[in-house]
Formats: sequence, structure tokens, C-alpha cells
Amino acid sequence: MPLATIKWVNNSIKLIDQRKLPGKLEYIYCRDLETLWDAIKTLSVRGAPALGVASALGMLLASKLFKGNDKNKFLKFMEKSSAYIGSSRPTAVNLFNSLARIEHIIKNNQEKAISEIKKLVQNEAIAIYEEDRIVCRKMGKFGASFIKNGGTYMTICNAGSLATVDYGTALGVFYAAQEQKKQFKVYSLETRPLLQGARLTSWELKKSGVDVTLICDNMAASVMRNQRIDGIFAGADRIASNGDTANKIGTYSLGVLARFHEVPFYIVAPYSTFDLNIKDGTEIPIEQRSKEEVVNFHGVRTAPDNIKVFNPAFDVTPNYLIKAIITEEGIISPVNRSNISHTFGTNAKK
Ligand code: MRU
Repeated sequence: MPLATIKWVNNSIKLIDQRKLPGKLEYIYCRDLETLWDAIKTLSVRGAPALGVASALGMLLASKLFKGNDKNKFLKFMEKSSAYIGSSRPTAVNLFNSLARIEHIIKNNQEKAISEIKKLVQNEAIAIYEEDRIVCRKMGKFGASFIKNGGTYMTICNAGSLATVDYGTALGVFYAAQEQKKQFKVYSLETRPLLQGARLTSWELKKSGVDVTLICDNMAASVMRNQRIDGIFAGADRIASNGDTANKIGTYSLGVLARFHEVPFYIVAPYSTFDLNIKDGTEIPIEQRSKEEVVNFHGVRTAPDNIKVFNPAFDVTPNYLIKAIITEEGIISPVNRSNISHTFGTNAKK
């Protein structure tokens, strides 16, 4: 650690190809928007904050790809590029928040020369990249106060360095606690259907020297019943203005189990994961993914032909199941509209 998940290198976006992990550590270089779109769609790059950085760097790439002096054509091209990148995955709001930031820069400077607008786009995209590195470390420090020596914790999906530029949100809490020399154990849920927990979280925690044990998703209840779990830490893809939180499918089940077993359930997410324009979790768009992800297990068909499949990639945990949301601005607890609004100094929708 830290592991660089995504980077701007020689006019291209360099990404770890997460589909190949943990078997192979390989990189993809996106030199056109189609390669980036495909990398996002097929989860070579994934995790809300990393998607926010990918879309920002995607707009930087688009600006570099535009050749010519026609301002209107340039503005149209950037608009089309933003819509195209935004069509890749719907749930992680970081992706859209970054696009909105770049669009705002372009709109406010459209009287300037194309070369100047391109420079401003580059500055904003690099700022989004740098901010991710800073906010993850801040959240890690805040969250580490909840980790006690000798404690045992649980996490789902991958909210680690692989889901951000290089540190992580929920796993950043473990890295910060490790930096503070705390001793603790982590259970990583495998996270069906695409196994981000098994393939990515257990890989990066093990590589970092964290004491990690992999379990199947359906073992969480019995682990909570049979031994002391001191806390559950998860990331988020979109948090509504009242604190309802969309994250990887299975997170809601963990929240329910946590309540039943009296285990504190924490969400770790930056401001860029909040969608303060929506009232509650019912307004969060949930990505539906291909049935192939469910009927196959590692390339082997495990279900009958023509079986009906339901495959939502995310679920929503209601605010009342979340003990606290750990952000770069501090800890939000209890999780409700007024505390969120107070933390970010904004007026969350009534
Ligand atoms: O489908 P994925 O792998 O992009 O889902 C990722 C998650 O659900 C993460 O927990 C979330 O994006 C937070 S990452 C810091």
C-alpha cells in the first residue's frame, strides 16, 4: 500500500484491470472514450470514488482527443462525451458529480480560447484525482477511532485502494488503524455475484498485512452470532439527503443482521458520494446487470437454461440502520437529514 488504481499517464488513463485480480496484476491504457466506457461497464475500474476519478479523467481525455479550432464543435463534443461517459453505470453518484464539476468549468469559461478551456479541464480533473487521495486519508483517520486493539470487524464488497485512487474508504479505516499499530481482525464477505470481496478485498488486505478471513455472504449471520464482532464498515455508491445509502447488493442484509446482533454498522464515504438533490433512498437508481453474472460461476454454468434471473447490483440501507457515516468533514451520527445538512453546510431537500 498504497496501490495506484487509476492514473493519468502520457495522455491516457492507466487502470488496473480488476477483472483479472487476484490472478494477474495487469493494466489497461484508455486512449479513447470507448475503451474507458467498456472498462467502467465491465468493472475493470469500479468503486464509486474511482468511478468519479475515471469520469473526470475521461473528460480530460476527451478534451485532448478534440482537434481543431471550432469552439462550437468543441463544446458540443465535450457535452456528448459527458453524456456518453455518464451512460456507463447509473448508481455511483461520484461519476456524475465529477462530470458536473467539469461541465461547470466549461460552461463558466466558454468565452475563452479552446486551449485555455482545455487547460482548465485538466486542472479540474487533476484536482478531483488529488482530492480523492486526501479525503480517503482523512476518513481513515476519523474511522480509525472506532477500531479497538484486539477488535474484530466485517466488510463487504471492496471499498479499498482498488475502489479509489490508492487508499480506500471503508478499508482506509483499517489502513489508518494499522498505521496506528492497532491489532485487529477483519472478515471479508465474498460478495456474490462478482466476488469483489473474495477477489479484491481479501487480496489487498492480505497484501497489506491485515489479518483477513474470507467468508461467504451467507455466513455473516452465524459469524455474528457465534463470536463478537465489534463493527461493520462498508462504502457507499450514493447517499440520499436523509442518509439512506446505496451500496453493493448484500449491504442492506448486513445492516439488518447488525441491528439484530447489536453490532455497530458504519458507512465510510466522502462528500462526493452524497446526492443532496434526492429526498431518500427510493430515488436512487439501481443498476440492473446481466443474468450471465448469476447463472455462471467463474465461467462455469451453474443454473438451468432459460432460468429467470434478478440481478440488482446495489441495495439501499435505510438511515436508521446506520450507526454513523464517516466523512472527510467528520462523523455524522445519528444519521439524519439535519445532521447531514449541518455537516456539509447545505440545505438538503425537504
Ligand atoms: O459494482 P462495484 O464493484 O462498482 O460496487 C462497488 C461498491 O459497492 C463499493 O462498496 C462502493 O462503490 C464504495 S467504494 C469506496
